[in-house]
Amino acid sequence: MLDVLIAEDGQSLTLFSAEQKYQFHGIWLLDNAPDARDQGNGQRLLSFDKLPDYDDQDATRIHRASVTPQALSIDIGPAYRHIDFDISWLLAHAYDRVEAKGKGWVDDSIKLWNATGAVPQGDFNDIHNSRTALRDWLGKIRAFGFAKLVGGPVREGALLDIAALFGYVRETNYGLLFDVRSEVNPINLAYTGLGLQAHTDNPYRDPVPSMQILYCLENSANGGDSQVVDGFAAATQLRDTDPSAFESLTSHPVRFTYEGASGVHLTSVKPIIELGVDGALRAVHFNNRSIAPFSGIPFDQMPEFYRAIKAFGALIDAPENQIGFKLAPGESFIVDNQRVLHGRSGYEGEGTRWLQGCYPDRDGLYSTLLVLEAAKSGATS
Ligand code: FE2
Repeated sequence: MLDVLIAEDGQSLTLFSAEQKYQFHGIWLLDNAPDARDQGNGQRLLSFDKLPDYDDQDATRIHRASVTPQALSIDIGPAYRHIDFDISWLLAHAYDRVEAKGKGWVDDSIKLWNATGAVPQGDFNDIHNSRTALRDWLGKIRAFGFAKLVGGPVREGALLDIAALFGYVRETNYGLLFDVRSEVNPINLAYTGLGLQAHTDNPYRDPVPSMQILYCLENSANGGDSQVVDGFAAATQLRDTDPSAFESLTSHPVRFTYEGASGVHLTSVKPIIELGVDGALRAVHFNNRSIAPFSGIPFDQMPEFYRAIKAFGALIDAPENQIGFKLAPGESFIVDNQRVLHGRSGYEGEGTRWLQGCYPDRDGLYSTLLVLEAAKSGATS
Protein backbone atom coordinates (compact mmCIF):
# COMPACT_ATOMS: atom_id res chain seq x y z
CA MET A 1 0.00 0.00 0.00
CA LEU A 2 1.44 3.35 -1.07
CA ASP A 3 1.31 6.55 0.91
CA VAL A 4 2.24 10.04 -0.18
CA LEU A 5 4.20 12.86 1.43
CA ILE A 6 4.65 16.39 0.07
CA ALA A 7 8.13 17.89 0.56
CA GLU A 8 8.39 20.85 2.95
CA ASP A 9 8.94 23.34 0.12
CA GLY A 10 6.02 21.87 -1.87
CA GLN A 11 8.19 21.35 -4.93
CA SER A 12 8.06 17.57 -4.93
CA LEU A 13 6.28 14.60 -3.42
CA THR A 14 7.25 11.08 -2.41
CA LEU A 15 5.15 7.98 -2.98
CA PHE A 16 6.29 5.38 -0.50
CA SER A 17 5.60 1.98 0.97
CA ALA A 18 7.51 0.01 3.61
CA GLU A 19 9.94 -1.18 0.92
CA GLN A 20 10.05 1.50 -1.78
CA LYS A 21 9.94 5.20 -2.38
CA TYR A 22 9.46 7.16 -5.58
CA GLN A 23 10.01 10.92 -5.79
CA PHE A 24 8.43 13.25 -8.35
CA HIS A 25 8.90 17.00 -8.89
CA GLY A 26 5.94 19.33 -9.29
CA ILE A 27 7.21 20.51 -12.66
CA TRP A 28 7.49 16.92 -13.87
CA LEU A 29 3.93 16.21 -12.74
CA LEU A 30 2.68 19.31 -14.56
CA ASP A 31 4.62 18.29 -17.64
CA ASN A 32 3.18 14.78 -17.53
CA ALA A 33 -0.43 15.55 -16.69
CA PRO A 34 -2.60 13.16 -18.74
CA ASP A 35 -4.11 16.02 -20.74
CA ALA A 36 -0.64 17.23 -21.77
CA ARG A 37 -0.58 14.48 -24.39
CA ASP A 38 -2.87 13.57 -27.25
CA GLN A 39 -5.09 10.75 -26.02
CA GLY A 40 -4.98 9.05 -29.42
CA ASN A 41 -1.33 8.98 -30.46
CA GLY A 42 0.34 9.77 -27.14
CA GLN A 43 2.34 12.68 -28.54
CA ARG A 44 3.15 15.79 -26.50
CA LEU A 45 0.79 18.71 -26.84
CA LEU A 46 2.68 20.91 -24.37
CA SER A 47 5.75 22.88 -25.42
CA PHE A 48 8.41 23.64 -22.82
CA ASP A 49 7.87 27.40 -22.97
CA LYS A 50 4.41 26.76 -21.46
CA LEU A 51 5.96 25.21 -18.35
CA PRO A 52 6.78 27.38 -15.30
CA ASP A 53 10.20 29.05 -15.12
CA TYR A 54 12.84 27.60 -12.80
CA ASP A 55 12.40 30.28 -10.11
CA ASP A 56 8.58 30.35 -10.24
CA GLN A 57 8.06 28.10 -7.25
CA ASP A 58 4.42 29.13 -6.78
CA ALA A 59 3.57 27.61 -10.14
CA THR A 60 5.03 24.22 -9.21
CA ARG A 61 3.97 24.10 -5.54
CA ILE A 62 1.99 20.97 -4.63
CA HIS A 63 -0.71 21.87 -2.10
CA ARG A 64 -2.55 18.60 -1.63
CA ALA A 65 -1.86 14.99 -2.55
CA SER A 66 -3.72 11.75 -1.91
CA VAL A 67 -3.20 8.24 -3.14
CA THR A 68 -5.30 5.12 -3.68
CA PRO A 69 -4.16 1.79 -5.14
CA GLN A 70 -5.24 3.11 -8.54
CA ALA A 71 -4.50 6.83 -8.58
CA LEU A 72 -2.46 9.75 -7.28
CA SER A 73 -4.41 13.01 -7.04
CA ILE A 74 -2.75 16.38 -6.58
CA ASP A 75 -3.69 20.04 -6.41
CA ILE A 76 -0.85 22.17 -7.77
CA GLY A 77 -0.02 25.81 -8.54
CA PRO A 78 -1.72 29.08 -7.59
CA ALA A 79 -5.05 27.94 -9.10
CA TYR A 80 -4.93 24.63 -7.19
CA ARG A 81 -5.16 22.74 -10.47
CA HIS A 82 -6.41 19.20 -9.86
CA ILE A 83 -4.62 16.37 -11.68
CA ASP A 84 -5.16 12.59 -11.41
CA PHE A 85 -2.44 10.12 -12.37
CA ASP A 86 -2.73 6.40 -12.96
CA ILE A 87 -0.48 4.80 -10.33
CA SER A 88 0.87 2.02 -12.51
CA TRP A 89 1.75 4.55 -15.22
CA LEU A 90 3.47 6.75 -12.66
CA LEU A 91 5.55 3.93 -11.17
CA ALA A 92 6.54 2.74 -14.63
CA HIS A 93 7.94 6.21 -15.30
CA ALA A 94 9.66 6.79 -11.94
CA TYR A 95 12.95 8.56 -12.58
CA ASP A 96 14.73 8.87 -9.24
CA ARG A 97 16.23 5.39 -9.64
CA VAL A 98 18.58 6.25 -12.47
CA GLU A 99 22.01 5.31 -11.19
CA ALA A 100 25.36 6.34 -12.54
CA LYS A 101 26.77 3.25 -14.24
CA GLY A 102 30.31 2.83 -15.42
CA LYS A 103 31.37 3.33 -19.02
CA GLY A 104 30.40 0.52 -21.34
CA TRP A 105 27.50 -0.96 -19.37
CA VAL A 106 24.95 -3.09 -21.15
CA ASP A 107 21.27 -3.46 -20.38
CA ASP A 108 20.09 -6.65 -18.68
CA SER A 109 18.00 -7.48 -21.75
CA ILE A 110 21.21 -7.95 -23.76
CA LYS A 111 22.63 -11.44 -23.39
CA LEU A 112 26.36 -11.53 -24.05
CA TRP A 113 27.78 -14.73 -25.51
CA ASN A 114 30.95 -16.45 -26.67
CA ALA A 115 31.91 -19.67 -28.44
CA THR A 116 30.12 -21.79 -25.86
CA GLY A 117 26.77 -20.20 -26.67
CA ALA A 118 24.08 -22.02 -28.62
CA VAL A 119 23.00 -20.66 -32.01
CA PRO A 120 19.60 -18.95 -31.64
CA GLN A 121 17.40 -20.30 -34.38
CA GLY A 122 13.99 -20.06 -35.99
CA ASP A 123 12.20 -21.75 -38.88
CA PHE A 124 11.33 -19.86 -42.08
CA ASN A 125 7.84 -21.31 -42.40
CA ASP A 126 7.07 -21.07 -38.68
CA ILE A 127 7.81 -17.35 -38.49
CA HIS A 128 5.63 -16.76 -41.55
CA ASN A 129 2.71 -18.73 -40.15
CA SER A 130 2.86 -18.07 -36.41
CA ARG A 131 3.03 -14.73 -34.63
CA THR A 132 4.33 -16.56 -31.55
CA ALA A 133 7.19 -18.07 -33.55
CA LEU A 134 7.95 -14.67 -35.09
CA ARG A 135 7.90 -13.01 -31.66
CA ASP A 136 10.23 -15.65 -30.22
CA TRP A 137 12.67 -15.34 -33.13
CA LEU A 138 12.74 -11.53 -32.98
CA GLY A 139 13.19 -11.74 -29.21
CA LYS A 140 16.28 -13.90 -29.70
CA ILE A 141 17.69 -11.35 -32.13
CA ARG A 142 17.18 -8.55 -29.61
CA ALA A 143 18.81 -10.56 -26.82
CA PHE A 144 21.71 -12.16 -28.71
CA GLY A 145 22.18 -9.78 -31.65
CA PHE A 146 21.92 -12.59 -34.17
CA ALA A 147 19.90 -15.66 -35.07
CA LYS A 148 19.75 -18.28 -37.79
CA LEU A 149 16.72 -19.15 -39.83
CA VAL A 150 16.40 -22.60 -41.38
CA GLY A 151 13.98 -24.33 -43.70
CA GLY A 152 13.59 -21.53 -46.24
CA PRO A 153 13.17 -21.86 -50.00
CA VAL A 154 16.15 -21.81 -52.34
CA ARG A 155 14.85 -18.78 -54.20
CA GLU A 156 16.39 -15.45 -55.09
CA GLY A 157 14.90 -12.62 -53.05
CA ALA A 158 13.56 -14.87 -50.27
CA LEU A 159 15.48 -12.74 -47.77
CA LEU A 160 13.19 -9.82 -48.57
CA ASP A 161 10.23 -11.94 -47.44
CA ILE A 162 11.92 -12.32 -44.06
CA ALA A 163 12.54 -8.59 -43.71
CA ALA A 164 8.94 -7.83 -44.68
CA LEU A 165 7.76 -9.75 -41.61
CA PHE A 166 9.18 -7.12 -39.27
CA GLY A 167 10.18 -3.95 -41.10
CA TYR A 168 11.80 -2.24 -44.03
CA VAL A 169 14.96 -2.74 -46.03
CA ARG A 170 17.38 0.09 -46.65
CA GLU A 171 18.47 0.44 -50.24
CA THR A 172 22.12 1.33 -50.82
CA ASN A 173 24.52 1.62 -53.74
CA TYR A 174 24.72 -2.20 -53.53
CA GLY A 175 20.99 -2.33 -54.30
CA LEU A 176 17.93 -3.34 -52.28
CA LEU A 177 19.65 -6.70 -52.02
CA PHE A 178 23.08 -7.76 -53.18
CA ASP A 179 24.77 -10.97 -54.25
CA VAL A 180 27.81 -12.20 -52.34
CA ARG A 181 29.81 -14.57 -54.54
CA SER A 182 33.12 -14.64 -56.36
CA GLU A 183 33.47 -12.17 -59.20
CA VAL A 184 36.26 -11.61 -61.72
CA ASN A 185 36.67 -7.87 -61.03
CA PRO A 186 35.13 -7.44 -57.60
CA ILE A 187 34.13 -3.98 -56.32
CA ASN A 188 34.49 -5.36 -52.80
CA LEU A 189 36.73 -8.08 -51.35
CA ALA A 190 33.53 -9.69 -50.07
CA TYR A 191 32.91 -10.69 -53.69
CA THR A 192 35.94 -12.99 -53.81
CA GLY A 193 36.83 -16.31 -52.27
CA LEU A 194 39.08 -14.69 -49.70
CA GLY A 195 38.48 -15.29 -46.02
CA LEU A 196 37.09 -12.23 -44.27
CA GLN A 197 37.96 -11.27 -40.72
CA ALA A 198 34.86 -10.78 -38.58
CA HIS A 199 33.55 -7.28 -39.21
CA THR A 200 30.55 -5.02 -39.10
CA ASP A 201 29.26 -3.98 -42.50
CA ASN A 202 29.57 -0.54 -44.03
CA PRO A 203 30.83 1.64 -41.16
CA TYR A 204 31.56 4.18 -43.93
CA ARG A 205 27.82 4.92 -44.13
CA ASP A 206 25.91 7.47 -42.08
CA PRO A 207 23.81 6.02 -40.61
CA VAL A 208 25.41 2.59 -40.47
CA PRO A 209 23.11 -0.28 -41.51
CA SER A 210 21.61 -1.55 -38.28
CA MET A 211 20.73 -5.12 -39.33
CA GLN A 212 21.90 -7.47 -42.05
CA ILE A 213 20.36 -10.66 -43.42
CA LEU A 214 22.64 -13.06 -45.29
CA TYR A 215 20.70 -15.78 -47.13
CA CYS A 216 22.33 -18.83 -48.66
CA LEU A 217 21.37 -20.02 -52.15
CA GLU A 218 24.43 -22.18 -52.93
CA ASN A 219 27.23 -23.40 -50.70
CA SER A 220 28.96 -26.40 -52.19
CA ALA A 221 32.45 -24.86 -52.16
CA ASN A 222 35.14 -26.17 -49.87
CA GLY A 223 35.18 -23.67 -46.98
CA GLY A 224 33.07 -20.56 -46.83
CA ASP A 225 31.88 -21.22 -43.28
CA SER A 226 30.33 -18.26 -41.48
CA GLN A 227 31.54 -16.92 -38.16
CA VAL A 228 29.88 -14.49 -35.78
CA VAL A 229 31.38 -12.66 -32.79
CA ASP A 230 29.52 -10.74 -30.11
CA GLY A 231 31.17 -7.32 -30.37
CA PHE A 232 29.55 -6.23 -27.11
CA ALA A 233 31.04 -9.24 -25.31
CA ALA A 234 34.46 -8.46 -26.80
CA ALA A 235 34.12 -4.79 -25.85
CA THR A 236 33.22 -5.61 -22.25
CA GLN A 237 36.14 -8.07 -22.09
CA LEU A 238 38.43 -5.25 -23.22
CA ARG A 239 36.85 -2.86 -20.71
CA ASP A 240 37.44 -5.31 -17.86
CA THR A 241 40.92 -6.52 -18.79
CA ASP A 242 42.48 -3.48 -20.46
CA PRO A 243 40.68 -0.28 -19.40
CA SER A 244 43.11 2.09 -21.09
CA ALA A 245 42.67 0.29 -24.45
CA PHE A 246 38.89 0.50 -23.98
CA GLU A 247 39.20 4.21 -23.22
CA SER A 248 41.31 4.74 -26.33
CA LEU A 249 38.84 3.00 -28.66
CA THR A 250 35.83 4.84 -27.21
CA SER A 251 37.36 8.30 -27.32
CA HIS A 252 39.14 8.64 -30.69
CA PRO A 253 37.53 9.23 -34.09
CA VAL A 254 38.21 6.77 -36.89
CA ARG A 255 37.38 7.46 -40.50
CA PHE A 256 35.95 4.67 -42.64
CA THR A 257 35.79 5.02 -46.42
CA TYR A 258 34.64 3.15 -49.50
CA GLU A 259 35.49 4.14 -53.09
CA GLY A 260 35.46 0.69 -54.69
CA ALA A 261 32.85 1.42 -57.36
CA SER A 262 32.87 4.28 -59.83
CA GLY A 263 30.69 7.17 -58.77
CA VAL A 264 30.75 6.18 -55.11
CA HIS A 265 32.73 7.84 -52.31
CA LEU A 266 31.26 7.01 -48.93
CA THR A 267 33.00 8.27 -45.81
CA SER A 268 32.05 8.55 -42.16
CA VAL A 269 33.77 9.09 -38.81
CA LYS A 270 32.97 7.20 -35.62
CA PRO A 271 34.76 5.53 -32.72
CA ILE A 272 35.56 1.81 -32.88
CA ILE A 273 33.52 1.34 -29.69
CA GLU A 274 30.64 3.80 -29.38
CA LEU A 275 29.08 4.79 -26.05
CA GLY A 276 25.88 6.71 -25.42
CA VAL A 277 25.73 9.86 -23.29
CA ASP A 278 24.72 7.62 -20.38
CA GLY A 279 27.85 5.48 -20.86
CA ALA A 280 25.88 2.56 -22.34
CA LEU A 281 27.58 0.47 -24.99
CA ARG A 282 25.81 1.55 -28.16
CA ALA A 283 27.73 0.14 -31.10
CA VAL A 284 30.88 -1.53 -32.33
CA HIS A 285 32.31 -0.44 -35.69
CA PHE A 286 35.09 -2.72 -36.86
CA ASN A 287 35.91 -3.37 -40.50
CA ASN A 288 39.55 -3.78 -41.39
CA ARG A 289 38.93 -3.35 -45.13
CA SER A 290 37.45 0.12 -44.91
CA ILE A 291 39.47 1.93 -42.23
CA ALA A 292 41.12 5.07 -43.65
CA PRO A 293 44.58 6.13 -42.40
CA PHE A 294 44.23 7.16 -38.76
CA SER A 295 44.48 10.94 -38.77
CA GLY A 296 42.22 12.27 -36.04
CA ILE A 297 44.26 10.95 -33.13
CA PRO A 298 46.78 13.12 -31.22
CA PHE A 299 50.44 12.33 -31.89
CA ASP A 300 51.21 11.30 -28.32
CA GLN A 301 48.22 8.92 -28.20
CA MET A 302 48.77 7.14 -31.52
CA PRO A 303 51.02 4.32 -30.18
CA GLU A 304 48.46 3.53 -27.46
CA PHE A 305 45.67 3.58 -30.04
CA TYR A 306 47.52 0.97 -32.14
CA ARG A 307 48.04 -1.13 -29.02
CA ALA A 308 44.32 -0.83 -28.25
CA ILE A 309 43.02 -1.75 -31.70
CA LYS A 310 45.37 -4.74 -31.86
CA ALA A 311 44.09 -5.89 -28.45
CA PHE A 312 40.47 -5.53 -29.57
CA GLY A 313 41.21 -7.30 -32.86
CA ALA A 314 42.77 -10.18 -30.94
CA LEU A 315 39.58 -10.56 -28.88
CA ILE A 316 37.48 -10.56 -32.07
CA ASP A 317 39.73 -13.19 -33.67
CA ALA A 318 39.91 -15.38 -30.56
CA PRO A 319 38.31 -18.79 -31.28
CA GLU A 320 36.75 -18.75 -27.81
CA ASN A 321 34.70 -15.71 -28.85
CA GLN A 322 33.52 -17.05 -32.21
CA ILE A 323 30.57 -19.19 -33.19
CA GLY A 324 30.92 -20.84 -36.59
CA PHE A 325 28.43 -22.59 -38.84
CA LYS A 326 28.04 -23.46 -42.48
CA LEU A 327 24.84 -22.28 -44.10
CA ALA A 328 22.98 -24.74 -46.30
CA PRO A 329 20.91 -23.49 -49.24
CA GLY A 330 17.65 -22.04 -47.85
CA GLU A 331 19.28 -21.13 -44.55
CA SER A 332 20.13 -17.62 -43.47
CA PHE A 333 21.24 -15.58 -40.51
CA ILE A 334 20.52 -12.08 -39.33
CA VAL A 335 22.90 -9.91 -37.32
CA ASP A 336 22.58 -6.67 -35.42
CA ASN A 337 25.23 -4.97 -37.54
CA GLN A 338 26.16 -2.52 -34.79
CA ARG A 339 26.81 -5.25 -32.27
CA VAL A 340 27.61 -8.64 -33.82
CA LEU A 341 30.49 -9.03 -36.25
CA HIS A 342 30.35 -11.60 -39.04
CA GLY A 343 33.10 -13.17 -41.11
CA ARG A 344 33.80 -16.19 -43.25
CA SER A 345 36.54 -18.64 -43.98
CA GLY A 346 38.08 -18.61 -47.45
CA TYR A 347 36.80 -20.94 -50.14
CA GLU A 348 38.12 -22.20 -53.46
CA GLY A 349 38.15 -25.13 -55.83
CA GLU A 350 35.10 -27.05 -56.98
CA GLY A 351 31.62 -25.89 -56.11
CA THR A 352 30.02 -22.51 -55.61
CA ARG A 353 29.06 -20.18 -52.79
CA TRP A 354 26.25 -17.71 -53.34
CA LEU A 355 24.64 -15.64 -50.62
CA GLN A 356 22.25 -12.74 -50.92
CA GLY A 357 22.33 -9.90 -48.42
CA CYS A 358 20.15 -6.94 -47.44
CA TYR A 359 20.04 -4.29 -44.71
CA PRO A 360 16.73 -4.09 -42.82
CA ASP A 361 16.43 -1.29 -40.26
CA ARG A 362 16.53 -2.32 -36.60
CA ASP A 363 13.90 0.14 -35.42
CA GLY A 364 11.25 -1.69 -37.43
CA LEU A 365 12.30 -5.00 -35.93
CA TYR A 366 12.09 -3.66 -32.37
CA SER A 367 8.77 -1.99 -33.12
CA THR A 368 7.25 -5.21 -34.42
CA LEU A 369 8.63 -7.12 -31.44
CA LEU A 370 7.15 -4.65 -28.92
CA VAL A 371 3.75 -4.85 -30.63
CA LEU A 372 3.85 -8.67 -30.61
CA GLU A 373 4.89 -8.68 -26.95
CA ALA A 374 2.09 -6.25 -26.02
CA ALA A 375 -0.41 -8.46 -27.86
CA LYS A 376 0.83 -11.45 -25.88
CA SER A 377 0.58 -9.74 -22.48
CA GLY A 378 -2.85 -8.38 -23.46
CA ALA A 379 -4.03 -11.88 -24.29
CA THR A 380 -2.89 -13.33 -20.99
CA SER A 381 -3.92 -10.53 -18.62
FE1 FE2 B 1 30.01 -8.35 -44.43
